[in-house]
Amino acid sequence: MIEKSSIESLKTTLDIVDVIGSYIQLKKSGTNYKANCPFHGEKTPSFVVSSTKQIYHCFGCGVGGDAIKFVMEIEKLSYPEAVEKLASMTNFTLHYTQGNTDHSDTKRILEQCQKWYIKNIDQNPTAMAYLIGRGISHASIEKFGIGFAPSGNVVMEFLRQSLLPLPQALESGVIAKNERDEFYPRLVDRITFPIYGSLGSLVGFGGRTITNHPAKYINSPQTKLFNKSRLLYGYHLAKEKIYKTKQIIICEGYLDVVMLHQAGITEAVATMGTALTTDHLPLLKKGEPRIVLAYDGDKAGVTAALKAAQLLIAEGFDGGVVLFPDNMDPADLIASGESQKVMRLLREVKMLIPFVLEKQCDAYDLSNPRQKEIAFGEIKQFLSSLSPIMQEAYLPIASTLLGVSVKIFGFRNSQTKPSIQSVTPKDDVLILSLLKTLIEFPQRIDLVLDVLESEILGNYAELFSTIVHGKTEESNVIALSMDERYHAMEETEFKESLLRLLEVYYTQKSRTIHKDPNLSYAQKFHIKRKIQLDILPRLKRGEFVKPEL
Ligand code: UTP
Ligand code: MN
Repeated sequence: MIEKSSIESLKTTLDIVDVIGSYIQLKKSGTNYKANCPFHGEKTPSFVVSSTKQIYHCFGCGVGGDAIKFVMEIEKLSYPEAVEKLASMTNFTLHYTQGNTDHSDTKRILEQCQKWYIKNIDQNPTAMAYLIGRGISHASIEKFGIGFAPSGNVVMEFLRQSLLPLPQALESGVIAKNERDEFYPRLVDRITFPIYGSLGSLVGFGGRTITNHPAKYINSPQTKLFNKSRLLYGYHLAKEKIYKTKQIIICEGYLDVVMLHQAGITEAVATMGTALTTDHLPLLKKGEPRIVLAYDGDKAGVTAALKAAQLLIAEGFDGGVVLFPDNMDPADLIASGESQKVMRLLREVKMLIPFVLEKQCDAYDLSNPRQKEIAFGEIKQFLSSLSPIMQEAYLPIASTLLGVSVKIFGFRNSQTKPSIQSVTPKDDVLILSLLKTLIEFPQRIDLVLDVLESEILGNYAELFSTIVHGKTEESNVIALSMDERYHAMEETEFKESLLRLLEVYYTQKSRTIHKDPNLSYAQKFHIKRKIQLDILPRLKRGEFVKPEL
């Protein structure tokens, strides 16, 4: 178990803005930071991070908490796992009460293996010849830490001699267990590619066979550190350029990344044998780059590019697609001296939306009216998912591609919906500001309890009760304390506001009391007189009145 005190001191070193900022793009907004909520789909930001309070809250879906909670939610980790993750992200050493369930062993093993793999490259002429044969320079080998995993026996012998504990080596994904419960190395006779997280810590390996093993590439299995559907190979090396040029190139293979970097295109990264999915989006959103999908021109590549493009469009990304022709991928082209061609292709990207439209048309024989009808339905649906501006911009292209008139889409008449503004009535602002004040200055709660009936608070009675009970961790309390539309008031303003609220309430009450079916005429008359002749004048003089009606 991780020591409690250790978690506490980790917490003091964490800055929630850095932590969340390493997953999603945060924009400064007043004293807080804002973003589109990573936990529910949205186009306008309602996710707020407070650096003073070290908490986050989404006004859209209600999630909220501290840095640890965020990492638990976004990475789908347990509490201790999230703590370990944060510790490793910040190079913080955790202390454990017993045994060791920490990641330091796993990380140490990965790092020692990496050092050893690198050493092997120089000692293995076959491996080195393979790399050189693929056009990879010595500088690239070094930059990417490319190494070599020799035969199984040699790898196991290395682990034993370095006294690396096998159970932790298993956990790190370096070795696996067969049916007979024996350990064996996952990477054997393979060129190794170390894989780093976006913050630059080693999390796993990919390995390419040089002996024509049927599995061309093998990657680390899913481990606590390695989640391949969230990672992008090469990201830590590409990051700076991505931020600077506001462009990221996503390709399919390890070698594509290595060779593109070698050709100076250092904003290239790759998915690792998986499709681009929503899991990759947090990383892609960082720095708000336009996204270039650089895929093979074969059928699999086109299908993957189409899916990825649709995902990116739906998420509002700008970007384009390049499909490399003639069964050549960027790595092959660069290796055969065609860097210039690669650069030209990368400049001549097809924009995401036209690309999708074209591929949707390509899938059908448009000379056949039935097929054309299906294609039309698909494209119409796609266009209606776009913003009105995009729709208008791409409608002509769609109609040309399909060979139909623009009118037939029927978009003209469709009116754009008026944007819904959240309007808070004046009284609500008053009440919520008062409640916010009570969160900041709980010593004023007594006064409020004395003069206020919870009825006065209407919909906010429950929130009031939560605050009164000191439940400051409740998400609706967090939400209010971070909502910049309301401010905590100084004493005078607070008292005046409270008086104003009471005035509004009693005025209202004296006007509507005659409609109350539960009261007799005499009771109504008495209350109305009391309000008008006693309560309101006293409130106007600045005197608080205890409710006694
Ligand atoms: P490709 O099959 O396109 O490999 O797979 P490649 O990059 O052209 O490989 P080379 O040039 O022959 O060496 C693209 C990526 O898919 C993953 C790897 O990440 C690879 O880089 N992959 C591929 C696997 O994970 N396993 C495989 O068996 C094959
Ligand atoms: Mn290749």
